[in-house]
Amino acid sequence: MMKTILPVLALLALFVSQGCTSTGSDCSVSSPDGRIKLTFVLSADGQPSYSVTFDGDTVVRPSLMGFDISDAIDPDFHSGFKYAGRPAMESVDSVWIPVWGESDSVINRYQALAVELSKKTASGAERKLNINFRVYDDGIAFRYIFPTQTPDTIVITEEYSQFAMPADLTAWWIPGDYDTQEYEYNTSRLSEIRAINEKGDKLGNVSQTDFSPTGVQTSLMLRGDDSLYMNIHEAALVDFPAMHLDLDEPTLTFRSWLTPLPDGTKAVITTPFRTPWRVVMIGDEATDILASQIIYNLNDPTSYDDTSWITPVKYMGVWWEMITGKSAWSYTDAEDFDLATFDYSKARPHGRHGATTANVKRYIDFAAANGFDQLLVEGWNIGWEDWFGKEKDFVFDFVTPYPDFDLKELNDYAHSKGIRLMMHHETSGSIPNYEHWMDSAYTLMNQYGYNAVKSGYVGKFLPKGQTHYNQNSVRHYLDAVRRAADHKIMVNAHEAVRPTGLARTYPNLIGNESALGTEYQAMSTAHETILPFTRLKGGPMDFTPGIFRTDIGSFAPGNKEHKRSTTANQLALYLTMYSPLQMAADLPEHYMEKADAFQFIKDVPVDWSESRYLAAEPGEYIIVARRDKNSPDWYVGGIANEPYDYQLSLSFLPQGASYEATIYADAPDADAITNPEAYVITRSEVDSSTVLPIHMARGGGFAISLRKK
Ligand code: NOJ
Ligand code: CA
Repeated sequence: MMKTILPVLALLALFVSQGCTSTGSDCSVSSPDGRIKLTFVLSADGQPSYSVTFDGDTVVRPSLMGFDISDAIDPDFHSGFKYAGRPAMESVDSVWIPVWGESDSVINRYQALAVELSKKTASGAERKLNINFRVYDDGIAFRYIFPTQTPDTIVITEEYSQFAMPADLTAWWIPGDYDTQEYEYNTSRLSEIRAINEKGDKLGNVSQTDFSPTGVQTSLMLRGDDSLYMNIHEAALVDFPAMHLDLDEPTLTFRSWLTPLPDGTKAVITTPFRTPWRVVMIGDEATDILASQIIYNLNDPTSYDDTSWITPVKYMGVWWEMITGKSAWSYTDAEDFDLATFDYSKARPHGRHGATTANVKRYIDFAAANGFDQLLVEGWNIGWEDWFGKEKDFVFDFVTPYPDFDLKELNDYAHSKGIRLMMHHETSGSIPNYEHWMDSAYTLMNQYGYNAVKSGYVGKFLPKGQTHYNQNSVRHYLDAVRRAADHKIMVNAHEAVRPTGLARTYPNLIGNESALGTEYQAMSTAHETILPFTRLKGGPMDFTPGIFRTDIGSFAPGNKEHKRSTTANQLALYLTMYSPLQMAADLPEHYMEKADAFQFIKDVPVDWSESRYLAAEPGEYIIVARRDKNSPDWYVGGIANEPYDYQLSLSFLPQGASYEATIYADAPDADAITNPEAYVITRSEVDSSTVLPIHMARGGGFAISLRKK
C-alpha cells in the first residue's frame, strides 16, 4: 500500500482579521513567496469580488463572483450577502507522494482565505455561500461551498465567476464546444477571438462555439507583452458541468459559462456541495506554467487504500493499421442491423479485419520481445459494422468477441510472454448502453486478466440532448473510473471531458485523450508545443506518438496523409508530453526498419523522480529534462515548431558523475514536411559541465538518453 500524504509540515489556522480591513469588507492573502496577492471585496450591496496582483501589477482586475439559481421569488445568489462569520486564514506547507508522475513528490504550499456569506431572501429564507481562496506561488484558486441549507436542492442557472484580464493578452485557445476538444489551437489577441470563431478555424470548421462567438474552452493559455504568463483552468471537476469561458469584449473580461443540461439549466446540486476550483496559474516565464502542479494540489489525496495495482503502462496497439485504413475494425460489410439478432457466424467476412487471432499474436510477439507492458486491440468485439454516426442505443455489448478473435487463447498467449492485452470499449456515445454493460464488461476483463481499458465516446450522446461536458456526462466519466477501480482496472478515456487533476484522487485514470492526438494527420507543427500548456495541465494525454513511417499511403493504399513531424520529434514527444501511459503507435514493421531509433522508445521510462523544464514558449518550443524513477539515468527531449538552435547545458547532472549520452537528432536537412524521416544518432561521454549544441528542424526535435556510467 502506498501512502499518498506525508505529515503536514505546518498547518496554522489563524482566526484573525489580519489581512482584512477592520470593517471586514476587504481581505487580502498573499502567496508564500509574497509575489501574488489576492484581494477579496464584499461590496456595500453585498456583491463578492476578487482581484489579483503579481509583483504589484494587476493581473486579474476586480472580478465578480456568485450564481443565479432557479427560484421564482429570488434567483439572485450573487449579491445582498453579508459576512456570516469572520474570514479565516490558514497557511499550509506539505508534501505528497504521487502514485505516478513527473516527480516522486509534490510540494503543496499555499495561503488560504475562507469567507462565509449569507443573505435573507425576500421570502425570509436564509441562503448561504462560502468561498475558499488559495494563493500558491504559481497561481490562485477559489471554489464555492454551498453549506447545508433549505431547500437543500439548488438548481444553478448561471455562474458569474469572472476573470477580468489586465490587457488584450495573447491567447492559445480552442472554441467553446459542448461536444469536442479536437481542434487545432488558435493563437490570437483576446480581441480577435470573435473574428476567428466567426470565420472558422484553420480546418475550415465554422460556428464552432455552441454558445457564443467569444466562447473558448479551458485550459486557456495566456501571455502578456511583458513577462507575464497565465492560464485559466479548473480543478476537481466532480458532479458539476465543465466550465467554458465567454469573453465580454469591451471589458476584456471572461465569465464562467457552464455546459448546460438539456433543459438549459446548468447544474442540480444537493447541499452541502463544493464546486470545482476556478484556477489562474501565474508566472513570469512560460516554464513556470509547465512546471505548475497547482491543479493536482487542488485535488483531494487519493481515496484508494491500495494503489499497488496501478502502474505506468508502455504499450503498442492493433490500432494504427485501422486508423490509417490499412485494415478495419469491422469483420463484415453488413450494415443497419440489430446486434441482438445479427448472426455473425452466417455473415461473410470482408477479409480486412485487423483484430484476428493470427495478427494479434504477431503484435504480441513483437511487443513482448521489445519490453512493452501491454497491447491494445481494437475491433475485437462485435458491432463495428454499424456504429459510426448512427446515434443508436445498442451498438456494442463489450463482451462478445468477433468469431476470428479468440479471447482466451490470445490473453493466455500474451500472459505467457509476460505482457497483457489492453481492453477497448468504444461507447459510441450511448451512455445508457455502456452503463448497462459496464459491470459485465469489467468482470469479463477480470476473468481474462485485463487490467486496463481504453474507453471512447465518439459521436453525439444518447439520450438525445445530452452533451459531452454537461453535469450528467461529467458524472458518468468519473463513475466509470470509480467502478473500474472496484475491479482494479486502469482507465484511458478518449473524448471524455478534459481532465482537471482528478487523477490525483483516482490514480487509475492513467490517461485521457480530450484533444487532437496523433490520429489526426494534418496537424500543424505548432500543435504539440501548445498541448503541454493547455490540455496537459489537467492530466496526462494518450497522445500516441512514435510514428516513424510518415508517408501513410506507402502502407495504407489510398491514404494520402503525410505525418508532419520528424522522427526525432516523435521520439522527443515521449518526454515533452508527460504521461504514465505511452504508446508506440506505429506498426511493428516500421519499427524494425529503424531499429536504431526505436531503441529510444524501448529505453524511455514512463515514470519520473524529477522533471525540469529548461526552456519553452507556447507555439514555439519545449525542452525538458527528466530523471528516471528507477535509476540514476536522465532523459532530455525537445520539440520545435520552426527551426530552433539551443545550447543544452547538462548542469542538472550530479557533479563528478559521468554519463553515456545517446543523442537522437534531426539530420541537418531534416524538415517535418519535406524530409521528415532524416535523423542522426551519436554517442558521447558527458558530465555536468557539458554543453551540447542542439539543432531542431521545423516540426523537429531531439531526444537524449543519459546513462550513468
Ligand atoms: C476515437 C479514438 O480517439 C481512437 O483512438 C479510436 O481508435 C476510435 N475512436 C475508435 O474507437
Ligand atoms: Ca479521438
